[in-house]
Amino acid sequence: NQEYDFIVVSNRLPVDRIIDVDGEPTWRRSPGGLVTALEPVMREADGAWVGWAGKADLELPPSTEDGIHIVPVALSALEVEHYYEGFSNDTLWPLYHDVISPPAFHREWWESYRAVNRRFAEASAAIAAPNATVWVQDYQLQLVPAMLRELRPDLTIGFFNHIPFPPYGIYSQLPWRRQIVEGLLGADVIGFQRVADAGNFSRAVRRLFGYATKSPEIRVPLEGGGHRTVVAKAFPISIDVESFEQMARRPEIIERARQIREDLGNPTTIMLGVDRLDYTKGIGHRLKAYGELLSSGSITVGDSILVQVASPSRERVEAYMQLRDEIELTVGRLNGDYATISHGAIAYLHHGYPREEMVALYLAADVMLVTALRDGMNLVAKEYVACRHDEDGVLVLSEFAGAADELKNALLVNPHDIEGLKESMMQAVVMPKRERGSRMRALRRRLRDNDVSHWSHTFLETLEGAARKAR
Ligand code: G6P
Repeated sequence: NQEYDFIVVSNRLPVDRIIDVDGEPTWRRSPGGLVTALEPVMREADGAWVGWAGKADLELPPSTEDGIHIVPVALSALEVEHYYEGFSNDTLWPLYHDVISPPAFHREWWESYRAVNRRFAEASAAIAAPNATVWVQDYQLQLVPAMLRELRPDLTIGFFNHIPFPPYGIYSQLPWRRQIVEGLLGADVIGFQRVADAGNFSRAVRRLFGYATKSPEIRVPLEGGGHRTVVAKAFPISIDVESFEQMARRPEIIERARQIREDLGNPTTIMLGVDRLDYTKGIGHRLKAYGELLSSGSITVGDSILVQVASPSRERVEAYMQLRDEIELTVGRLNGDYATISHGAIAYLHHGYPREEMVALYLAADVMLVTALRDGMNLVAKEYVACRHDEDGVLVLSEFAGAADELKNALLVNPHDIEGLKESMMQAVVMPKRERGSRMRALRRRLRDNDVSHWSHTFLETLEGAARKAR
């Protein structure tokens, strides 16, 4: 059995097992921000990645895919239903995103969550070299840190939560609120996206256990007396800025951006939304604002178009099916009301696209709309900024996305305020080139100070420091 000094554990592997057009099994890059952020870290560290291959009932041996050592963890069909679709995505996801959609609480989902978390902990313990560092990722695996510490007290354990951590008034609804906090406190360092998330977590610790906290440290009493120190702190995640920028400078990508513009009928303004089709993203709010601007004549079809990429996500969860119906109904109505034979009002694309195509879209978009109702970070906002080496384009960004803490030179909006959102969209449409340039330059400076390698190195340095102190 191969052993590793550095291990990343996440629900999804960076690649999903799929069946290609010829009926052959193959691997494809997984969706979502987590993989985007961690892939470069993993390549650098030559560690192993423990995770699920994205399909039920699939026992796969460890292998190396695209230079990354992967250790697949199998989930049964029932576990996919209870642990992944149920507890992770129909309990924790809505609860942690301000109960935008009502969370469901089911005891059998919780049991499955515990069982699967244990399996991830055991799989990681089995391949960890003595004193190895294990970095556990995201809300699907919050019990792993404590389980792993029990199995392997020699390990240095980090945890990073990619999504928000809710205020106590919301968090306290969770019937298993104590167990989850205990699970997380097994880590040496618990990372969050925003300062507010770390604060919410520390408050939950105080309220539930009465442990002393002195930001960023939490004192966890030990059974035999004394205490362990756990660090709970914000480490805002980022992207590989350089690689996005380089891709955006490639002549064929620039040509593709021009082509996209032409294919759309050379409108004056291309607005763009890029999201997983998720109710946290505020796609409906964006469409409402866009529809009202069309209706009032502030913008007209032919002059403007909204391109909305909505990549399929969690399609077996009821709330996501409902959302899809709502969004597609709205898009259909708006196109029905406003499109002409030659010009659409909205180009709606229910697909995932390769990164090259996304970068070309970012380059083509005059206005980028990120209107999340709640979002841990939102890497799309950062990708847009990274790609705009031409120092043009306007970012309209929700203040409820973690990215708003850093990207202050965007047009910040409250997406619930439809009038305000419309005003910001129009401000973006008419913004003079000079102002677009100065805002984009400021955004790009800020982004360059914190790219993904800065994020991972800061986290891992803090983790090694905390572990040294604990020893
Ligand atoms: C978000 C989460 C990730 C998740 C991704 C895609 O970015 O933070 O943990 O992997 O969404 O969602 P999925 O359910 O398809 O893994």
